[in-house]
Amino acid sequence: MLIIFGASGDLTARKLIPALFNLYKGGHLPEKFVVLGVSRSDLSDGEFRKKVVHESEYLKESVGKEANSFIETFANKLFYEDLGDDYDTNYHRLETRISDLNTKYGTDDNYIFYLSTPPSLYEVIAKNLSEEGLNNEEKGWKRLIVEKPFGYNLDSARKLNEGLHNYFQETQIYRIDHYLGKETVQNLLVTRFANSIFEPLWNRNYIHHVEITNAERVGVEKRGGYYDKSGALRDMFQNHLLQIVSLVVMEPPIGPGAEEIRNEKVKALKSLRKMTDEKTLFDNTIRAQYVSSVIDGEKVPGYREEEGVDPNSTTETYAAIKFFVDNWRWADVPFYVRTAKRMPTKVTEVVIHFKSPHHQIFKDSGMDSKDNKLIIRIQPDEGILIKFGVKVPGQGFKVERANLDFYYSSLVEQHVMEAYERLLLDAMQGDATLYARADEVEAAWEFVDPILEYWKNGKDVKTYGYSAGVWGPKNSDDLIDGNHMWRNPEEQ
Ligand code: BG6
Repeated sequence: MLIIFGASGDLTARKLIPALFNLYKGGHLPEKFVVLGVSRSDLSDGEFRKKVVHESEYLKESVGKEANSFIETFANKLFYEDLGDDYDTNYHRLETRISDLNTKYGTDDNYIFYLSTPPSLYEVIAKNLSEEGLNNEEKGWKRLIVEKPFGYNLDSARKLNEGLHNYFQETQIYRIDHYLGKETVQNLLVTRFANSIFEPLWNRNYIHHVEITNAERVGVEKRGGYYDKSGALRDMFQNHLLQIVSLVVMEPPIGPGAEEIRNEKVKALKSLRKMTDEKTLFDNTIRAQYVSSVIDGEKVPGYREEEGVDPNSTTETYAAIKFFVDNWRWADVPFYVRTAKRMPTKVTEVVIHFKSPHHQIFKDSGMDSKDNKLIIRIQPDEGILIKFGVKVPGQGFKVERANLDFYYSSLVEQHVMEAYERLLLDAMQGDATLYARADEVEAAWEFVDPILEYWKNGKDVKTYGYSAGVWGPKNSDDLIDGNHMWRNPEEQ
């Protein structure tokens, strides 16, 4: 049984129910399966089904004609329980409802509790579940999935971990980071460790620098209230982007198991050099906000004009960070990571920039060898692009850049699981590989905390502006050493 707390919220309708429906349609869910939505709204089972299935704009996208027949049987597996005014009472009633559903529908005692509520409620819910014995694994497993943000800074993340550990074992806790559910993020592991052509080059001897871009075309949409207290660093960098960084940086794990992989990721995150003095923080971090502009003939508001945003806010919608990794493999290789809203396009990519050949025979030939790049497109157009030099046919040695381009779409014809589908299925199967462990989350905060602190209280901290629809503030290239610049992801 899957019990979703916060079931009347946006995430349930937008992501969880469509993911469950697709799993159901694809035959991945057990026949005897029940979803119990729990929240503070007063809804009947029928009203809940109407909201998240029959009248849901999100589910329509998943329901092809052939799937219509599944809709009713799927909807009949959804139930709802109103928990009253807060999440701190009525758990005995909840426990009774769970047992009744179990008896009636012949499900077993394996439960996933999905907390899609504000993080301030996680511990309260965990405590109440444990008081009803719903954390007890004697008769079947009990797992807790928690959404991001996991903490607001290092201190709150530690407290949250301690709080949850009072009631659930670490092995029962699944901290979701939907980027880990993306096929192409997982493919980073395969690219690196299932091929012998990349890994020998994957180090300071051959790599000049690493660049990671995460860009969204949209602004803060209707989430101004949340976003203004969060900002790009907390919203994207601490979690999704540092997860990608850890997969790029990590050493080969001894095997594919959850602990083996996560041990290496934690080591990688711990080796990121923390920036502690103001000068380093000033030189290596840039924050900015989008300002009003016209995109495709339409005027879009600036960040400070968005609903729910303080008109004097300094919260960043653009963050670019340069850092180093203090270990044998990566010594002196700069990493540049940027994330932003209101960019020209939606894209996430990892760019490995290779060093020039030690001795350049063709240096006057037209191609700069710094053009050797491996570009891993996380989204959209998922794939891998390698840029290298080829000889232009004809006399002499004129070198031109060529592309070797692989698109995932050429490989997969069947439905590719969306991140939430994959992650929910993994949690049901007890595979925590794609979930963040307590120490991993804390290691990420350890790196981010000094930047947040500097941006909050440091001297000389600036919040730059950039017009909505451009690649960030004018000075963003200043972060990158030498005559390099951020790659324009729109260029092939
Ligand atoms: C979420 C952030 O975690 O990720 C959002 O809170 C962001 O602000 C979203 O828009 C981006 O996810 P994706 O999968 O669309 O890149």
